[in-house]
Amino acid sequence: MGEVKDYKAAFQLHGKVALVTGAGGNLGAEICRALVSAGAAVLATDVNDEGAKAVSDALNAAGGHSAWMKHDVTNELEWESAVAVAVSTFGGIDIMVNNAGIVPMNFLADLDIDEFRRVQDVNVAGPTLGCKHALRAMRPDGVSGRGGSIINMSSVMGLSGTIALASYNASKGAVRLLSKSVAAECALLKTNIRCNSIHPGIIDSDMGSLFHEQLVALGVAPSMEASEAGFLAAVPMGEAGQPSDIAAGVVYLASDASRYVTGSELVIDGGFYAT
Ligand SMILES: NC(=O)c1ccc[n+]([C@@H]2O[C@H](COP(=O)([O-])OP(=O)(O)OC[C@H]3O[C@@H](n4cnc5c(N)ncnc54)[C@H](O)[C@@H]3O)[C@@H](O)[C@H]2O)c1
Repeated sequence: MGEVKDYKAAFQLHGKVALVTGAGGNLGAEICRALVSAGAAVLATDVNDEGAKAVSDALNAAGGHSAWMKHDVTNELEWESAVAVAVSTFGGIDIMVNNAGIVPMNFLADLDIDEFRRVQDVNVAGPTLGCKHALRAMRPDGVSGRGGSIINMSSVMGLSGTIALASYNASKGAVRLLSKSVAAECALLKTNIRCNSIHPGIIDSDMGSLFHEQLVALGVAPSMEASEAGFLAAVPMGEAGQPSDIAAGVVYLASDASRYVTGSELVIDGGFYAT
């Protein structure tokens, strides 16, 4: 990809194919909508196949190009199938969005090591396998062979610590450095593949609500309202982000407009981490 001359064209995704994991969730669904809106064809995958199907069906009903499949990101055989389906259905793979994630909360003293391992399996091994199989398909000798952009969903909680979130903090911090490792290796091996992480802050979403519910259940906050108000007070822009704010960042990192951006961390948080 040469230097950007035509900015309108550089932000388009026409002719590109994306695979999005966790597509049935709040952010995943919006990311699929954004990628299709910018011109990409999207394979929406989720362990919750009904969720992925609903997202894909809605996109196709609106005239987009989308397919769906059941896909557990912890299962390597299912990764091989998912990439193969993207290539056979849409003719290649250019954009990999490792978005699926889980956020159980517990005080460290009560941490269940099996639950900790489960979080690392979904949140770290999942994206690692996604990077591996995207790389194998995207590199010059791969089945797609035209390079691409890998986007890994971390969090502001992959940049700083939070009470009762040891498993999640550890996993999202790992995703941050996984992305830099993949970026360096892909660039040095001349694969024409970029890799970046996105770090959402407080987002108006089911996962955001679950986070506050768990803080109340653990006795950290007296009520949902108090918990939400406490976190919003730490957001300089004074409001929670929307899933579309994250999806817009995905479109930028997926597009040729970001052709010189790799190994970076895109923080989308209304200034939360800046203060
Ligand atoms: N919502 C937020 O406030 C927020 C903030 C920061 C980071 N994030 C991150 O953004 C990503 C998406 O979050 P969301 O808000 O859409 O959450 P969500 O819970 O709405 O969606 C997550 C999706 O991942 C899927 N999933 C879970 N385990 C899976 C597995 N093993 N294989 C495949 N799919 C699996 C779920 O079925 C679900 O559809 C996550 O990685 C999350 O950690 C979210």
